[in-house]
Amino acid sequence: MTPFRIAVLVSGRGSNLQALIDARAAGTLPIEIVLVASDKPLAAALRLAESVGIPTLALDPKAYPERAAFDADLFARIAAHTPDLVVLAGFMRIIDPTVLTPWQGRIINIHPSLLPKYPGLHTHRRAIEAGDSLHGASVHFVTAELDAGPTIAQATLEIGSEDTPSTLAERLLAREHCLIVAVVALIAAGRIAMRGNAVLQDGEPLAAPLQLVGSNRLRINRGSGVLGQTLALAVTLATPMNAVLLPLLLSFAATTPSIAADIAIKPFHADYATLRNGSELGKTTLDLADNGDGTWTLRSDTRGTAGMAKLAGVHIVETSRFRWKDGRPEAVAYDFQQTTAFKDKTRHADFDWKAGDVHVVEGDGDFRYRIEAGIIDRQAVTLAIASDLQRGATSFEYKVAVKDRIETMRYTRATGETLNVPAGDFDVVLMQRDGQPGADRKRVARSWFASSLGWMPVQIEQTEKKGDTVTLKLVSIRK
Ligand code: GRF
Repeated sequence: MTPFRIAVLVSGRGSNLQALIDARAAGTLPIEIVLVASDKPLAAALRLAESVGIPTLALDPKAYPERAAFDADLFARIAAHTPDLVVLAGFMRIIDPTVLTPWQGRIINIHPSLLPKYPGLHTHRRAIEAGDSLHGASVHFVTAELDAGPTIAQATLEIGSEDTPSTLAERLLAREHCLIVAVVALIAAGRIAMRGNAVLQDGEPLAAPLQLVGSNRLRINRGSGVLGQTLALAVTLATPMNAVLLPLLLSFAATTPSIAADIAIKPFHADYATLRNGSELGKTTLDLADNGDGTWTLRSDTRGTAGMAKLAGVHIVETSRFRWKDGRPEAVAYDFQQTTAFKDKTRHADFDWKAGDVHVVEGDGDFRYRIEAGIIDRQAVTLAIASDLQRGATSFEYKVAVKDRIETMRYTRATGETLNVPAGDFDVVLMQRDGQPGADRKRVARSWFASSLGWMPVQIEQTEKKGDTVTLKLVSIRK
């Protein structure tokens, strides 16, 4: 098989070029770099190319009467190397539209922002100054307009409270390297094309850019909704030296939410596989709905599908009614109902904001205590964490109404990781409850949230009184 031929245009250090060279050398990217060209004869990237025997070309724009003449000469020389694709990797020039036109669909650029945000320069500083919680890089087809051609794929990165433009740039660069390699691999496999202003993936228009997950996986987002049906799809890219398995996730996943400032999380329907100590126990659905009267409902429904849970006909429904207050949920009412062949259990809580108390009825028990601003029921904790993550919060403390009192629950945010659940692989943030297990500790102790799904929980784990661990793993999600 003839290797896919690429030319790389550079103006500076060439770390993205290095990533392509390394992936090729490792046998994971079936390409030949036929030329590295620059407008800066002293660019370090040229030396890098020379050191591994790649042909180089340096042209000085000042030697040409005008921009178009430089561009025409540059691209004529590039054409002589018959590349299948031209990659702009830190090439700091705008290309003349007439010269560009014949190359459209065969030329891509990597840009350090989540386009269409921040085209042009100083992207890291602009993202920090805007107070963004997410930053990232985009690979897009190049058109005449600066950083505005259709975006193929993006890698996202959270902005930390300590980040400066330079720490952010450095952290993002590592993601850029993975992104550029993954996108070039997909193009080399003939799976990505440009039509008009759209990106086609396997002949179908992409509704949203692909998302980089982990180091080499691209998730495919279809549909324009915030959340959608998720379907795992594995794709094999044949390479001359070995086969690279690139699992792709076909989903209607989160795009940038355009929602009222106060409402952190949009309505969704999610299906989870429920496991006890790793074995099938049941199925859980989780729904978030806008009731249209200023209140919202989070409802989970779990049914036993295996073992004792199935035999006993376990059915648990938990409903939290709440309203959004300053971007966080605040409780209005809560219901828990567990039915089995042997016994039923119910708990009902009313949050009476006028009278200023919480009224809980559980079996024969009747409890009242004073309400406090921002109180939530125990099920809504997951949603509260998701909304805090969405808002870029750095501390996670909740006043939770348990049976007979308000308990303060604190969570700590652990470093990111990639998690595999039936819906696919997700870059996640792990939130873990602080302290030792207490009376109400069968409640959520650890949960994993995916920013690419608008901070939906992709896994929720709780340890029950007997020490058994029940885990919910995301199977599918839709708006
Ligand atoms: C990268 O940040 C890229 O996104 C931007 O220019 C920089 C190039 O870095 N277009 P390098 O030369 O590849 O190290």
